[in-house]
Amino acid sequence: MSITINEIPVQRVAKSRLPEVDFDNLAFGSVFTDHMFRCTYRDGRWQDAAIVPYGPLTLDPASKIFHYGQSVFEGMKAYKDAEGNAWLFRPEENQKRLNISAARMAIPELPDGLFMEGLKALLEVDRDWIPARAGSSLYIRPFIFASGTGFHASPASEYTFIIACAPSGAYFSGKVSVRIEEAYSRAADGGTGFAKAGGNYAGQFYPTQLAAKEGFQQVIWTDDHHHDYIEEAGAMNIFIRIGDTLLTAPTSDRILDGITRKSILRLAEAEGIPLEVRKIKVSEVIAASGDGTLKELFGAGTAAVVSPISSFGYRGKKYELPELDDSYASHFKKRITDIQYNRAEDPFGWRFPLD
Ligand code: PLP
Ligand code: COI
Repeated sequence: MSITINEIPVQRVAKSRLPEVDFDNLAFGSVFTDHMFRCTYRDGRWQDAAIVPYGPLTLDPASKIFHYGQSVFEGMKAYKDAEGNAWLFRPEENQKRLNISAARMAIPELPDGLFMEGLKALLEVDRDWIPARAGSSLYIRPFIFASGTGFHASPASEYTFIIACAPSGAYFSGKVSVRIEEAYSRAADGGTGFAKAGGNYAGQFYPTQLAAKEGFQQVIWTDDHHHDYIEEAGAMNIFIRIGDTLLTAPTSDRILDGITRKSILRLAEAEGIPLEVRKIKVSEVIAASGDGTLKELFGAGTAAVVSPISSFGYRGKKYELPELDDSYASHFKKRITDIQYNRAEDPFGWRFPLD
């Protein structure tokens, strides 16, 4: 299916919900725009692309998404600059990753163009929903799920691809404290950890609930073999600063190849910040905390942007991190958001104009 934006039919809502939205008090991902993009895979091809009013779906109870969790998703944002121009950030990376995730979950990949043309058509119709305030953006959630039916545990023959959007503020409110997990695992070699598959997140909820009872917002996952190495958090890649060196784990079968992560690595490289992409032992982080060289931990992701971690728990003990005036976290947050909101040069061509 090759499609261009002009070929996508638009069914508009009779009355926009936009006037009801309090743009000064946006939570994350809880109010949704007027429209969504929808497309169906049936008879071996993607078809019926359309912009339709946002709203509930009618699904057969035997749809395989309900039984076998066959679904993948993406997370991206649209930003508005001071002049009111609208931008995306590296959208081709999300398009690529959605197909990588889809292939792992035996979901048919999207043909070239469908993702971007559908997204552009949707954002043209719902453009006024992109917040104009710094710190807010339009969170975009493309997702594909098995809408085909049957109790047989095998891939569905029908799928639905939807792009829905939610004007959003910060993902975390307040300080972020994390627990380094040793009992549960998020992913295993040969598994689906590198894919943005819905089930990866469902599997994290219970251990994260246990951590929340102890006052932690997120879990930092460690390797599933011996829980010796730091991997990533529930919705973010993790960076560690020891001395002036910035460290992060290499991506693998078990770790999502984050777009924010790779953007930070590129910026750090260009700025000559000492950088090590390697396996990081939990014991090394504990030792650095003990000798005062552990300066920062921060998470990086589309929803979370760059989120400094104020403390972490490990084996029943809490470790506080210093508050720095010149943190790498605030530096990278500024560099990335300046590019996203068109406040600075874009030396790597990451900004994608929507106008
Ligand atoms: N790791 C996980 C498990 C995530 O869900 C996310 C969020 O998308 C990330 C890392 C960060 O990826 P990105 O920067 O592409 O949003
Ligand atoms: C994102 O950062 O876009 C994500 O997909 C994380 C999500 C679980 C909120």
